Parts: sequence; structure tokens; C-alpha cells
Amino acid sequence: MAQVPETFKRLMVKKLTFDFREACAIEEGKAPELAENEILVKNNYVGINASDKNFSAGRYFPDSAPPFPVGFEGLGVVVQKGSKVSMQLGQPVAYMANGAFTEYMQIEESKVIPLPELNKEFLPLLVSGLTAGIALEQTANLKKGETVLVTAAAGGTGQFAVQLAKITGCHVIGTCSTDSKAALLKELGCDRVINYKEENLGDVLSKEYPKGVDVVYESVGGEMFDAGIKNLAQHGRLVVIGFISGYESGEFTAASETMSSLPRTLLGKNASVRGFFLPGHVEHIQLTAQKLIKLYVTKQLKSHVDNGVHSDKGPFKGLESISDAVDYLYTKKSVGKIIVEL
Ligand SMILES: NC(=O)c1ccc[n+]([C@@H]2O[C@H](COP(=O)([O-])OP(=O)(O)OC[C@H]3O[C@@H](n4cnc5c(N)ncnc54)[C@H](OP(=O)(O)O)[C@@H]3O)[C@@H](O)[C@H]2O)c1
Repeated sequence: MAQVPETFKRLMVKKLTFDFREACAIEEGKAPELAENEILVKNNYVGINASDKNFSAGRYFPDSAPPFPVGFEGLGVVVQKGSKVSMQLGQPVAYMANGAFTEYMQIEESKVIPLPELNKEFLPLLVSGLTAGIALEQTANLKKGETVLVTAAAGGTGQFAVQLAKITGCHVIGTCSTDSKAALLKELGCDRVINYKEENLGDVLSKEYPKGVDVVYESVGGEMFDAGIKNLAQHGRLVVIGFISGYESGEFTAASETMSSLPRTLLGKNASVRGFFLPGHVEHIQLTAQKLIKLYVTKQLKSHVDNGVHSDKGPFKGLESISDAVDYLYTKKSVGKIIVEL
């Protein structure tokens, strides 16, 4: 077992701005004293999320003032433990907790998910996989035989929404913007891949799906939201997972025509728009995580990671490269879940 150093580095938000690089700085701190129920995790990998920029802009906790730690999820091994911890040193674990962009994470034993092995492909199952798993089951109430539209389908969370909807027995339509993403979506079993740079989403839906789609897993906003609303089936459900196209400005956009006719559209179709935010579903996390791990281990679920090897700044390694990885997510070029090795 590696010796725990007396000091270690972590990324801190020093200034509230959507520009993650400008917002953050690396800080060196003293190794913590562990409480009796806490463990110290040496992070091997951390996960990058679209909302890292929302977090650095102070949109998660409007009252919080910098400096504060940043990063939503990590994966590593237990290197120290409190007196009442039953987990063994060396145990691989993954966790979701604010402040994950750190070399060592101090966290309660009950808040981590033990893993069968140290494997970076478990990391996307956390924020991204759990969002897809819980939102489709609890919020969309997805049923076998339904038609599902997933936007940003080849991204961190989209890849799992596609696969979990296929496992449920649904017909899945996925949107993306590059050939390499389209190839991944076909490999994941997506029935209809729409590269929106080549085809218009609304036109394809109205022509090929005249009865509409039952569930929309929508994370982009703007035209994607419009097309989803316009093409909902009777009793359709559009789940707002996010609206990445509006994060930079902080504003959600949709056509005024879509918004003004929304009550009539929803009423006429017996349809609904539902919001989903993972921190509000704590009670489903452990069980869904176990389900996802089992699906992955039994090779029913693939987990595609992107460490930036194809980006100018990659492969991403070290806390210093986290800003590059966050910027990379917004280039729309990443395929699957972006991770950084520490
Ligand atoms: N509600 C929750 O609890 C929760 C949890 C996790 C994630 N999310 C949301 O899920 C969405 C995806 O997040 P992620 O972390 O998994 O990212 P991601 O999907 O890995 O990456 C973002 C992808 O979004 C697509 N995109 C479309 N329009 C974009 C634009 N204007 N700017 C940037 N990207 C655009 C791009 O793919 P294409 O161009 O190929 O479409 C891009 O690759 C975000 O809206 C995020 O906030 C929500």
C-alpha cells in the first residue's frame, strides 16, 4: 500500500465563472484527520460532467462563495481508514461527492460504492449511468415496446440511456453530430441514428414516426427540445435531463411557438414534461448502481470512456489537465464519458 503523503493537491473554485479554467486553481492542503467512519480514497480517475461549468459558475449553490472544492465523481482505492470502517485497505471504490477533483478524497465509508476491480469503465456508471437508469425508470416510467428519443445520445449519459432503453425492449432513436459517435450508437444497438449535421431531427421524426415518440430523454435544449415536444406521442413524456446548449448563457432556449402552444400540445396529447435532477433521487442510487454494475460485469452494458486521446490536449492526466477535459466536453467531439487519470 502506497504511503499517504502529508500534503496533497486539489482543484478549487476561486472565482465564480462559467469559464472553468479561469474559475479554478490547484491548491495544496494538509492530509486530513479521518473520523472513525471515514476512509481516504486515492483517486485514480475522475469523471468530467457538463455541469462542472455550471458548478464553477455558482449555479448549484447560489449562496456559496469561493473558494470551494469542485468535481462530482471519482474512482480509486482505499488507502486509509477510520477505526470503525469495515472496508479493507486496497478496496477499489467509486463515489459521487462534491470536491472529487482531488488526489485524495476523504469520505464516509457508507457513501462509496465498492467495485469488483479497479477499472476505469466503472466510473461512467456513476453520474452518467445513474442519471439514465433512474430517470428512465422513475421519471419517464419507461415501458417495453415504447419508442424513445435520446438527444446527445453518444455522450456520457446518453450512451446509457440508449442501452438501458434497448434492454427494456424499446425502439431507440439517438441524435449525435459526428461519424464516430454515429458508429458508437450503432454498436450500442441504437435503431435509428440521426446525425443532426446531416439530417433535420424534426423532419425525420415527423416522417418516420408519424405516431410520435413515447419518451424523450432530452439534455440539449433549443431545437432538440422543440422537436421532442412537437413529436411526442399520445401519453408521451419528455424528461428534461439538462439543456447544455444554454449553459454558457445560463438561459434555457426553445422556440416561442413551442412555449406558447405547450399547454395545448400537452393537453391534446395527454403528454407531460418532467424534470430530473440526480441529487433529488438519493434513495434510488445504491440499488440502481448495483444493477448497472451487474449489467456491466455480465457484459450486457458497455461503458465507453474518452480520455482525450484524440483531442489536441489529450490524453488527460493529472489535475492540471481537468480544465482541458472540461473544455473538450464543450467541443462536441468527445465520444462517451470523458475521464481524467490522476
Ligand atoms: N439532470 C441530471 O441530474 C444530469 C446528470 C448528468 C448529466 N446531465 C445532463 O446531461 C447532458 C449531457 O451531459 P454529459 O456530462 O453526459 O455530457 P456529454 O453528453 O458527454 O457531452 C455533451 C454533448 O452534448 C451535445 N451537445 C449538443 N449541443 C451542444 C452544445 N450547444 N454545446 C455542447 N454540447 C452540445 C454534444 O454531442 P452531439 O453534438 O453529438 O449531440 C456533446 O458531445 C447535459 O445537459 C447535462 O447537464 C444531467
